[in-house]
Amino acid sequence: MHIDQAKLEAFMGRLLQEMGAAMNVGLVNIGDQLGLYKAMTGAGWLTPAELAAKTETDERYILEWLSSQAAGQFVDYDPSTGKFRLPDEHAMALAIEESPCNVAGAYNVIASTIKDQELIADAFRTGRGVGWHEHHHSLFAGTDRFFRPGYRTHLVNEWLPALTGVVDKLNQGAAAADVGCGFGSSTLLMAQAFPKSQFFGFDYHDGSIEGARRRAADAGIGAHRLSFEVASAKAFPGSAYSLITVFDSLHDMGDPVGAARHIRQALDPDGVFMIVEPFAYDSLENNINPIGRMFYSASTMVCTPGSRAQEVGLALGAQAGEEKIRGVVMAAGFTRFRRATQTPFNLVFEARP
Ligand SMILES: C[S@@+](CC[C@H](N)C(=O)[O-])C[C@H]1O[C@@H](n2cnc3c(N)ncnc32)[C@H](O)[C@@H]1O
Repeated sequence: MHIDQAKLEAFMGRLLQEMGAAMNVGLVNIGDQLGLYKAMTGAGWLTPAELAAKTETDERYILEWLSSQAAGQFVDYDPSTGKFRLPDEHAMALAIEESPCNVAGAYNVIASTIKDQELIADAFRTGRGVGWHEHHHSLFAGTDRFFRPGYRTHLVNEWLPALTGVVDKLNQGAAAADVGCGFGSSTLLMAQAFPKSQFFGFDYHDGSIEGARRRAADAGIGAHRLSFEVASAKAFPGSAYSLITVFDSLHDMGDPVGAARHIRQALDPDGVFMIVEPFAYDSLENNINPIGRMFYSASTMVCTPGSRAQEVGLALGAQAGEEKIRGVVMAAGFTRFRRATQTPFNLVFEARP
């Protein structure tokens, strides 16, 4: 073994950063759960005692938490006053729920993968799958919360208009299904934007469907316009849909070809199948970047075991890339497939019968 000292030191320096980031996952989730970031939003400079009073928490713990956040440059610290401040830009990322760049949900997801580590290590040994429903519950709401800002920003304004004739049909009144809908943020956004159309959300996970139903009720949208039902992608009810969507769930399915085949027969002959997947290039060497890193990691902990837990167990992975998705869709009998649009985080495909 030959040790290049400079290379070793550089890697150790990098690991120090990584360990700090990893230790911070629990602290960010505590800040989120106890409303610490929210209480600091727009509040200017605060002493630990003031933040503790605002959030009904213990001052000594708050001092330590704030110190860790200052050391990680998540908050500012003024040594002359002993006060702390959350910069507005950081509040956008961590505290303001409606912000397009809120990533608090990602931390909920990361926490779930740490809690499920033993389950996944065991799956590595046995090769068995771990279903989406088997994960710690913070994965479910966390995923919805992580993806919602992107859907809110892009779905109605950019992604649906990039599809052939879909917006006109939804404006006039059409039926649409959202398959693998999770907590249904995508379904709800579409229902809110197109009041003349009917939206049906389907997911095999009953806990997610309960969450989606609560969201629909909170939004005050009646079941005649928006409904959620437990159903698998290969067996959901209904026919002649003008639009069927799958948001970040095709690669989670064990049999995506079977699912796409069922979707094709449930579509109107003139309908559109919209597939939203994580952004990825076709080969690993092109995905060696921060987004690829995050998605391959999530894929190892969640998506690949999830697919392996279902029949066929194709395990496309969250970095499948366009050519693999095209292969799945064409194998299911669709005749047209194209990349309709993209963002730095997502690829959006259109398939037609
Ligand atoms: C990564 S989550 C995405 C959820 C939601 N579409 C979103 O974008 O927030 C994947 C979802 O696919 C669902 N799913 C996985 N396999 C499925 C199947 N065979 N049939 C229906 N839903 C499935 C899971 O239950 C989970 O809710």
